[in-house]
Amino acid sequence: MCGIVGYVGPRESVPILIEGLRKLEYRGYDSAGVAVHEKGETRVVRCQGKLANLEKQLTVTKLTGSVGIGHTRWATHGRPSETNAHPHRVGGVSVVHNGIIENHMILRQRLMATGRKFSSETDTEIVAHLVDAELKAGVKDLGDAVRNALKQVEGAYALVVLSDSHPDRLVCAKVASPMVLGVGEGENFVASDIPAILSHTRNMIFLEDGQVAELTAQRIAITDLAGRPMSPPVKSVVWNSTQAEKNGFKHFMLKEIHEQPRAVTDTLRGRIELEQHDALLDEVQLDPATIKKIIIVACGTSNHAGMVGKFMIEQLARIPVECDLASEFRYRDPIVGPGDLVIAVSQSGETADTLAAVKEAKAKGARILSIANVVDSSIPRASDGALYTHAGPEIGVASTKAFTTQLIALALIALHLGRKNGKLSKEAAKQFIDELLQLPIKMKEVADQAAPLQVLARRYGNARDFLFLGRGINHPIALEGALKLKEISYIHAEGYSAGEMKHGPIALIDEHMPVVVIAPKGPGYEKVMSNLTEVKAREGKIIAIATRGDQEIGSIADEVILIPECASVLSPLLTVVPLQLLSYYVADFKGTDVDQPRNLAKSVTVE
Ligand code: F6R
Repeated sequence: MCGIVGYVGPRESVPILIEGLRKLEYRGYDSAGVAVHEKGETRVVRCQGKLANLEKQLTVTKLTGSVGIGHTRWATHGRPSETNAHPHRVGGVSVVHNGIIENHMILRQRLMATGRKFSSETDTEIVAHLVDAELKAGVKDLGDAVRNALKQVEGAYALVVLSDSHPDRLVCAKVASPMVLGVGEGENFVASDIPAILSHTRNMIFLEDGQVAELTAQRIAITDLAGRPMSPPVKSVVWNSTQAEKNGFKHFMLKEIHEQPRAVTDTLRGRIELEQHDALLDEVQLDPATIKKIIIVACGTSNHAGMVGKFMIEQLARIPVECDLASEFRYRDPIVGPGDLVIAVSQSGETADTLAAVKEAKAKGARILSIANVVDSSIPRASDGALYTHAGPEIGVASTKAFTTQLIALALIALHLGRKNGKLSKEAAKQFIDELLQLPIKMKEVADQAAPLQVLARRYGNARDFLFLGRGINHPIALEGALKLKEISYIHAEGYSAGEMKHGPIALIDEHMPVVVIAPKGPGYEKVMSNLTEVKAREGKIIAIATRGDQEIGSIADEVILIPECASVLSPLLTVVPLQLLSYYVADFKGTDVDQPRNLAKSVTVE
C-alpha cells in the first residue's frame, strides 16, 4: 500500500530516502514525508500530494543527517493531508507505518485517558504514542520499547521507528505487511518493497511476521516480539528494477490478482465482531429501520460488484435492492427519495457518472453511502458515509482486487443490516462470518492454479468470440468474466444469464465458440447443467468453473477448473478468480498491453 524507506549509515539520508520513495511512486500515494536525525533531534517535513511537493518543501526546510525515514502514504484512516502524512512524531519518537492497526479505537481511547493528545486522524500516531510512553516510563532500550508497544497492537503493520534518545539506529517491525532490510557495507537500509533500495544493495533480509530488527550502520540485530534473537537468512536479489516493482510478476494485473487474499483480509480487518456475530461498520452508521429500499449505483466492474451485492443484501437482510448503471440513473428521472439508501460503488471514487448519480439521489433526499478504494476521493466526499475497501493502489487498468474487496464491503453491509433487523440469526451470521474468514485461503488456492489456465489460454486464445454463462449470484460474474476478457485481450465476449441462452445467444453456438460456464454447487446448479447439454448438443466448447468434488460436470464439460467448496452467497469471490486469470493469460498469449489496454483509463472522469 504505502511506501517506506529508511537509511542508517555515513551518507546524507535525504537523497537516499527521496530516491527510494520515487521508486515506489508507481504504487500510488497521496502524501509524503521524511524524518531525519540532526544533532540530537529529529526533524520532520511532510506534505500533501506528490514527492515533488516534498522536494520543494525540502529546499526551504533543509534537513541534514545520516539516519532517516521516509514514507509515501495511501490514505486508509483519515484524509490525505499534511497532518495525516507520515512520519508521525510524538515526544522524541517518529514513526512510519504501512498497514492497519485493528484495535486503534480502543488504544486511542486508552491513551487519551492518560492525558495524551492526538494531532492526526491516523492509526499510526498510536504507535508513536505507545513507544514514547514506554520510553517515558523508563525503558532504556529502543528495541524493548518498540516490542512492548507492539504487544498491545493488533492488526497489520510494517513500521520503522526513529527516536531522539537513540540517534544512531532505526527499529523496524512487521506483521502481515511486507518489509525488507538491505544489507550494505557500513550502512543499512529498510523498505516496504525491494525497488526502493535495489540500487544500493542486492543483499536483503526479508523480515518475517513478528520480527523486530534494530539497524545501525554497522549491524542488524533481529529478535522476535519476546526479544529472543533470530537470524533470518540474507538473500541475494537478482531481479531488475522493473521486475522488482511487479514483485517478480510479469504484469501488475497478475500481481494484483495474486494480492487478492491479502487485500480481502485487509478489508475485513477490524470489521468483524465475533461476540455478536456482526460487522463493525461504525464509520457508516446503518439503521435498517430507516431504510425502505436500497439502490446501488456504479459503472463497469463496480456495477457487477453491486449486482452481487443485491443478492447478498436481499438474502441476508431481506431489504429490497435495485441496481442501476450510474450512467443511466439520472437520465430516467429515478424514483428515489427520503427513506432510500443509495450505495455508490467506485474503486477510484472519481467516476463522473457515479458522482452525478450520487448528486441526483442526494438532491432527491436519499441517504448516500459509498464504497471506494481511494480515501477522500470525490464520491466519498459527496456521500453521507463511506466504507473504504483496503485493496491498496490498483495499477492494472482492469480491475481485480478492487472488485473482490468491493464484494467484501457489500458482504459486510449485508451482514450488518441482517443482524440489525433480525433477519439473520446468530447461528446463520456465525456461519457466514466463518465462511468470510476462510475466503483468503480459498482464494489463494484458486489463484495458485495458473498452469491449467495457461493451457486453456493457449487452446482457446484464438477464438473470435466467447460466451460466459452464470445464474443467480454468479450471473454478474459471467458479465465480469466477459468484461475482463474484452478489455484486455480485445476478444469479443458476452456475459449472459444461463437461463437466457435459449432466448437468443444459443444461435451463436457452434464448435468454434468457447462457452465459459460458472457452475458451482448450490442453487441453480441443476439448471446450469441442463443449459450445458444445450451447448454440448451444438458442439460448443465448454469451460466449466465447478466445485471440487463435482462428479457430474466432467462428463459434459471439455475443461473443468475447480474451486473449493464455499457458501453460495460468497461463491463469486472464488469463481471470479479463474476468470481473471483466464483473461490475463489469453491477453498475455496474444501479446496485448495487459496493464494499459487500448482506449481505457483507470479513472473515468468524463461522462
Ligand atoms: C473494468 C474497470 C471499469 C471500472 C469502471 C468504474 O476492469 O475497471 O469497468 O470498474 O470504470 O470505475 P470505478 O470503480 O473507479 O468507479
